[in-house]
Amino acid sequence: MIDKITQYIKSIDNNQYEYGVILGSGWSHVVDIINIKHEIHYSDIPGYPTCSVKGHDGKMILGEINGKNVILLVGRFHLYEGYEIQKVVTPIHVLHALGVKTLILTNASGGINKKYKPGDIMIISDHINNTSQNPLTGLTATTERPIFIDTSTIYRQEYIALAERICNRHKIRHHKGTYIQNIGPSYETPAEIRAMGKIGADAVGMSTVVEALTAHYLGISVIGLSHITNMAPGISKNKITHQEVLDIANKNKNLLSKMLYDLISEL
Ligand code: HPA
Repeated sequence: MIDKITQYIKSIDNNQYEYGVILGSGWSHVVDIINIKHEIHYSDIPGYPTCSVKGHDGKMILGEINGKNVILLVGRFHLYEGYEIQKVVTPIHVLHALGVKTLILTNASGGINKKYKPGDIMIISDHINNTSQNPLTGLTATTERPIFIDTSTIYRQEYIALAERICNRHKIRHHKGTYIQNIGPSYETPAEIRAMGKIGADAVGMSTVVEALTAHYLGISVIGLSHITNMAPGISKNKITHQEVLDIANKNKNLLSKMLYDLISEL
């Protein structure tokens, strides 16, 4: 299936694309920074999964940002939509087949760390996989692509430092921290959030980790950016709504776009 999808995309644009970006909830305005060469709706790609969440329109944009060939994926696939894990990570395999060497994963997340505030950026420095699933299960190990891989260097220090410098430049409140992925779709209970805080999570969401694991396995460098759109249940007394997550994300859209423009320019 990956071959079929890749061939279809290459039949539209056969250029080498070295950079990939997945735009999560509330990050889709970042499309404004790309010089679009091709825009392909997921539903037009034979064999590609399709999206179901409000705020994700489901398209692949091939284009150029400050002289660099970049593929933007607007909308991702989540375990909570009922997809099998191999479908959730299909886009990562496709990006790899199209030549992507560096991948920026963005998401919206809930702050667990009490120093965080809605609107902050957390540069992901490590993660906790709380999905009880692993995207490498069932893959055939080869000498050049083993499956028992070290995961201590998924989020590379030099990229974290670069993202920090760019946040400082744009005066974006930011932190380095650990992201935990749950399956969802229900948000967490206050007791679950207390437990996740105790095991070291700073922010919580429903994506990214399984994609990062797949990218790392494929030899792609990963940068993870979480936009803290709300404080997690129990940390905040307010009830969370998906609309609130989208509203905060919308408020910061210009800053997030500037940040990603600089990040891609300086990679
Ligand atoms: N929990 C889980 N996922 C999320 C949250 C949250 O608080 N905010 C945005 N995505």
